[in-house]
Amino acid sequence: MIAIEASILAADFARLGEEARAAEAAGVDGITVDVMDGRFVPDITFGPGVVRALRPLVHVPLDVHLMVVEPERHLAAFADAGAARLIVHQEASPHLHRTLQTIRGLGLEAGVAINPGTPLSALEEVLEQADLILIMTVNPGWGGQPFLPGQLDKVRRLRRLLAERGLSIPIAVDGGINPGTAPLAVQAGATVLMAGSSIYNRQAPVAQNVAALRASLPLTAGPG
Ligand code: DX5
Repeated sequence: MIAIEASILAADFARLGEEARAAEAAGVDGITVDVMDGRFVPDITFGPGVVRALRPLVHVPLDVHLMVVEPERHLAAFADAGAARLIVHQEASPHLHRTLQTIRGLGLEAGVAINPGTPLSALEEVLEQADLILIMTVNPGWGGQPFLPGQLDKVRRLRRLLAERGLSIPIAVDGGINPGTAPLAVQAGATVLMAGSSIYNRQAPVAQNVAALRASLPLTAGPG
């Protein structure tokens, strides 16, 4: 099953609760909360308080993508706020193995993300500590950027690497995911799609955008 998550980075910040509820009503499998600190990436967005405010409003899991330096400093606060999964960046985590163990120790799923310029080899020693691997298909920092098709090969190689290791860890993609790029990512092996501006935009209501995304997908992920 392919999971679609709505990234509220593209939502109306004045109506985040309504926007999260609209995405859930439209059938998304989760909400991605893109946390940015103005240092790891240029923008500044949400803190644990937004996760705490959203938690009682939706039933789907809140997937917190920590685009921050020193993510290990913020794990407990986001866990306490109600996050279901915490995704840290390999590039911001010198003690990544321990950080992933700490997230699991908090009772949450541990995710690790890599930017387009980071090789897959940076993850080889932590695959067994991860519950999800996020391949960024844009350079992180803001929504609405064009999809980087060169990352599809990284998704394919990761899928093959996980198969060789006998690991069934979900592969997520984030950035420029829309009805045109989503099937390419799924055919490459992605099973979690994080989409912001293709869900929240002026062209159509959330429900229509989620339906279009869902309709664009093959039923299962490709062979890699
Ligand atoms: C990194 C962010 C964005 C966001 C989705 O900048 O993580 O990728 O989630 O952005 P869209 O779907 O609008 O490209």
